[in-house]
Amino acid sequence: MLKGKPFVKWAGGKRSVVDKLIKLAPLHFDTYYEPFVGGGALLFELAPKKAVINDYNKELMNVYECIKDDKKFTSMCNELNKHELNHSEEYYYEIRNLDRDKKKFSHLADYKRAARTIYLNKACFNGLYRVNSKNEFNVPFGKKNKVNTYDGSNLTLVYVYLNTNDVKILSTDFDEAVKDAKKGDFIYFDPPYDSDTSTFNSYTENGFGKEEHKRLAEVFKDLDKRGCYVMLSNYNTSLVKELYKDYNFHYIEAKRNIGAKAKDRGTVEEVIITNYDNVENDN
Ligand SMILES: C[S@@+](CC[C@H](N)C(=O)[O-])C[C@H]1O[C@@H](n2cnc3c(N)ncnc32)[C@H](O)[C@@H]1O
Repeated sequence: MLKGKPFVKWAGGKRSVVDKLIKLAPLHFDTYYEPFVGGGALLFELAPKKAVINDYNKELMNVYECIKDDKKFTSMCNELNKHELNHSEEYYYEIRNLDRDKKKFSHLADYKRAARTIYLNKACFNGLYRVNSKNEFNVPFGKKNKVNTYDGSNLTLVYVYLNTNDVKILSTDFDEAVKDAKKGDFIYFDPPYDSDTSTFNSYTENGFGKEEHKRLAEVFKDLDKRGCYVMLSNYNTSLVKELYKDYNFHYIEAKRNIGAKAKDRGTVEEVIITNYDNVENDN
């Protein structure tokens, strides 16, 4: 079966480690939950028949909604073609600054907002998603002369996946997104990572600090008690070691691609934590 791939470059995207995640995933499960879906690398690779996907980022989840909807999908692709044709530094800032007028922006058609999100992702500096305290996208121009906003055959695969399976699309807090998870369901948490120093964590208007990591660990434990399979990615920090000490740690080394400073792009130790014993999965 041909599978879709992430249609945006996303900070913390899991494309480079997706094989390791697949090996550690349970062989069988009911509904798949991905509460911090971002670009959806694992979602597309697993391609589960029943899934609940979520991200706090409303602009991103609106893109998934638009790809799933026939009419909005076509209009979004037309709008993307327009962005490609008009692309320039001046045009980038014109599209970027649409969210400065809150009232007008709230009336913008969903497909136009979706195309804007993809275009900004491809044309901005380093594929970052960053907003200021007023929730205004503030990443500078990426200085590319030309941008390819989408790969038609990949978007079609994503469209087919979302339409031929039972995929629920949410945009809420991770805790709310997993409230209906039951025994036998599989939840993969890929939060903004913790750090022993400081790190990039401004994906949304709300950062994701130590308190959020503690709250997430409580949700992890609760799902464990409910009989769900739970898997989580993070850096192997002192807080993470303490919060998940009763679970299984799998160590991986991964190269981070996004980070404004070169030193942030080095090799770091990442962990995958599971609440179940792993049977090597050869999928
Ligand atoms: C590490 S990224 C996920 C990357 C994703 N696995 C991929 O392959 O692209 C973390 C995501 O968590 C989202 N996020 C941050 N705080 C959240 C919250 N409280 N609830 C749900 N999602 C949140 C961010 O918008 C971001 O997309």
